[in-house]
Amino acid sequence: MCGIIGIVLRYQRALSKPLGSVIKGCLKNLEYRGYDSVGFALASSNSLVIRKSKGKIDEVDVKLAFDDFDGICGVGHTRWATHGKPSDINAHPLTDCSKRIVVVHNGIIENYLELKEELIRRGHRFESETDTEVVPHLIEEFKKLGMNSYDAFKKAASLLRGTYALAVIDTDEPGRIYFARNTSPLVIGIRDDATFLASDIPAFIDYTRKVIVIQDDEVGYISGSDVRIEKLVSKSYEVDLTPPICELVDYSSRIRHIDWTPEMAKKGGYPHFMLKEIHEQPQAIASTLSSLANEVKDVLKLISKADRVLIVGAGTSYHASFVGSILLSELAEVKSHAIISSEMKWYSRSVDECDVVIAVSQSGETIDTLLAVREARRRGALTIALTNVIDSTLARESHLTIYTRAGPEVGVAATKTFSAQVVALTYLALSLAEYRSTLSTNKLNELKNSLRSLPDYVSSTISATEPRARSLASLISSKQNAYYLGRGLGLPVSMEGALKLKEVAYIHAESYPAGESKHGPIALVDEGFPVFFTILGSNDGELIISNVEEMKARGALTIAVIPSNLDRIHKYFNYAFIMHPVPYEVAPSLYIIPHQLLAYYTAVTLGYDPDKPRNLAKTVTVV
Ligand code: M6R
Repeated sequence: MCGIIGIVLRYQRALSKPLGSVIKGCLKNLEYRGYDSVGFALASSNSLVIRKSKGKIDEVDVKLAFDDFDGICGVGHTRWATHGKPSDINAHPLTDCSKRIVVVHNGIIENYLELKEELIRRGHRFESETDTEVVPHLIEEFKKLGMNSYDAFKKAASLLRGTYALAVIDTDEPGRIYFARNTSPLVIGIRDDATFLASDIPAFIDYTRKVIVIQDDEVGYISGSDVRIEKLVSKSYEVDLTPPICELVDYSSRIRHIDWTPEMAKKGGYPHFMLKEIHEQPQAIASTLSSLANEVKDVLKLISKADRVLIVGAGTSYHASFVGSILLSELAEVKSHAIISSEMKWYSRSVDECDVVIAVSQSGETIDTLLAVREARRRGALTIALTNVIDSTLARESHLTIYTRAGPEVGVAATKTFSAQVVALTYLALSLAEYRSTLSTNKLNELKNSLRSLPDYVSSTISATEPRARSLASLISSKQNAYYLGRGLGLPVSMEGALKLKEVAYIHAESYPAGESKHGPIALVDEGFPVFFTILGSNDGELIISNVEEMKARGALTIAVIPSNLDRIHKYFNYAFIMHPVPYEVAPSLYIIPHQLLAYYTAVTLGYDPDKPRNLAKTVTVV
């Protein structure tokens, strides 16, 4: 996820060092967000300097020479590539044709292609492959058409669809930084002699703890002594001179004093990255959904004519693959199988040019998954990477790539990347179902609408289930073992729940298909043995009851993750996480949440650091 910093000083050297140096320090405080390129722009009344490069801040500092530049107003950016590979040209800031307007951006502008075409038609020249570059050209265009600088910025912001946090300097107004936010975070920091704008509070915590959090659909500007915030109340998607309607916001009651330590600030006030990343799932899902349409469109025909689809992945990515294989089969009637990456070699003799292999990997660097892809390619299969890291080895070595846009994940235990993978595969299955006409229009629309609403459901589920996860953690932390049982899509969710508990709380946890539990695993169950049942809907709910009864008869402690509308079944369990009922097919990324939270709080109760589980690495590059 990109990092933004913007600073306007009341007078030169207000912060006692060159502004370039201050910006470098602020960007270093945002390094935890992950990035591949860095850049800054500094403006004073008669000059504008722009410096940018691929690479990490410390590596490229010699070339960029942050400390040598000063100014009254500046923006800085760390880029985590989404549109266009990591490169000097694609690094931010990006500019208009006249190089007088500079923009830094975090997020994804969904309608950039149509805006770019229109701007090119009007004579604008683009240099980068990014979605962001439309913004400075739009502002330039509206100024050319007669708008003043601030109105041109507001008009440009009102045309954007997607997710964005924007910081903009127009050299015609060198004492201001314009901003706009939709979904991507943006905060303002205030002190007497300077005003800051950033993606996150740690950026400026060394200078001020007085903050205002910008809300969605707000636009405005900061100057050295002033903040103006307006709410965009109407948008028009036409490139014309109709100004957007905005209302002035009285933000005085929103100014907060933060007492976090710098370390806490990097984690957004959360004690661990794992908890922060669990809470970031609504945004991870929304960003992933916002960019899938184009990438998925390219693969529909290819998948549809394949004999079969093999989905490979390791660990959590295998669990997402498992969800994907069920959905491809159930919704789109595509023959699909999930295979653990390291086991793929036992199937590869049958792989040929009639197969499609989808390789799922958060990092895009897992060697087992890469080896599976290399072998599948050698045998003529079409390979598609599903990864969170642009230009990763997996993306480079596969024929095609679909990206999840969860932002960088720091915690070793995968959480938000799992939901993003599941959502991407669900979207793929629904698109295939539409392409192959395998679902009724009503069913298709119902599922599409539910998928679109997932970020909201996920958000409310985190709030609703966190207190119970926290209280149940003390009971689970006293246990040595646990079973996680489910049927259908409830099985991969259970497998992922068990993996989370094992990884961060070091409690032995196994997952089985619920119907399989009586064929052996039940031998271990005695008084107080915890058994989790993940029930996504009424089909698996009815079937699972006999499995619950079998466990209870042996004294098991039964815990359900179950929809609220299956209330007749709730009484079978000692404890239950009551979930919002959503269609079974879109439930996995919602129903994993209580499991993630419970694993997290159990680890914390036992005194472990969930961000750095023993013996595990975030990226596994050995076979
Ligand atoms: O980067 P990948 O998604 O390819 O990683 C695969 C597994 O190593 C990973 O999911 C691992 O199981 C995590 N620690 C799960 O939390």
